[in-house]
Amino acid sequence: MREVLNNLTYGLYALGVETGGKKNMCIINTAIQVSSEPVKITAALSKKNFSHDLVKEAGKFAISILDQETDKEIFGRMGFASGKDKDKFENFTCGEDDNKNPYLNEALGVLSVKVTDMLDVGSHTLFVGEVVQAIALKEGTPLTYTYYKQVKRGTVPKNAPTYAPPAQEEKVATSTEKEYKCAVCGFVYKDDVPFEQTAKDYKCPVCSAPREVFKEV
Ligand SMILES: Cc1cc2nc3c(=O)[nH]c(=O)nc-3n(C[C@H](O)[C@H](O)[C@H](O)COP(=O)(O)O)c2cc1C
Repeated sequence: MREVLNNLTYGLYALGVETGGKKNMCIINTAIQVSSEPVKITAALSKKNFSHDLVKEAGKFAISILDQETDKEIFGRMGFASGKDKDKFENFTCGEDDNKNPYLNEALGVLSVKVTDMLDVGSHTLFVGEVVQAIALKEGTPLTYTYYKQVKRGTVPKNAPTYAPPAQEEKVATSTEKEYKCAVCGFVYKDDVPFEQTAKDYKCPVCSAPREVFKEV
């Protein structure tokens, strides 16, 4: 099934939400336009994510459309850490739409959404909402999920709907070798040069975390 599912295509977005003074942001691949009149879009959020509870409470969110130049640090900060554990906006400046939802200043554009429907689909809740404001920020090439995986060598955490555990054969093949894993985003180092021989300033290609956070697994 996974082989077939891997052929589905997506874009990548940062979902920002604010409610009662609390704000948060996470990375999603599940924003799609599903209606033209009125213009409605979706976001499927894991029930385990902080953003899920905030969107449920707020009834609104903003979608920042990412482009190919998006800094990998954004994925580490917003897509692999939870707002339950840390303030994702520490030393980080965001814009704010008319409904106080935070958005990424470096996005191509922003869609501000008011939730109209919620559907329990299992591990995730599907939020559907009407677009009430659109902000154009810059021109560029939208980031696709395929580009993120194949060119940026990005991975996804467990709460992403597209997450699948590593195949059993992979685990067996590497079980006798030393492997190093990024403690921030879970990226597993697999280059030909042994990890021990990488440069001191080596950074995680997914989230830009420093070499020191890699742990032997
Ligand atoms: C490429 C990518 C795609 C993702 N897509 C989704 C998604 O569509 N829905 C979702 O709930 N989480 C998705 N995630 C995972 C969340 O961004 C991640 O669990 C985040 O830490 C949640 O933060 P929060 O707990 O502060 O809301 C994705 C992550 C990445 C890196």
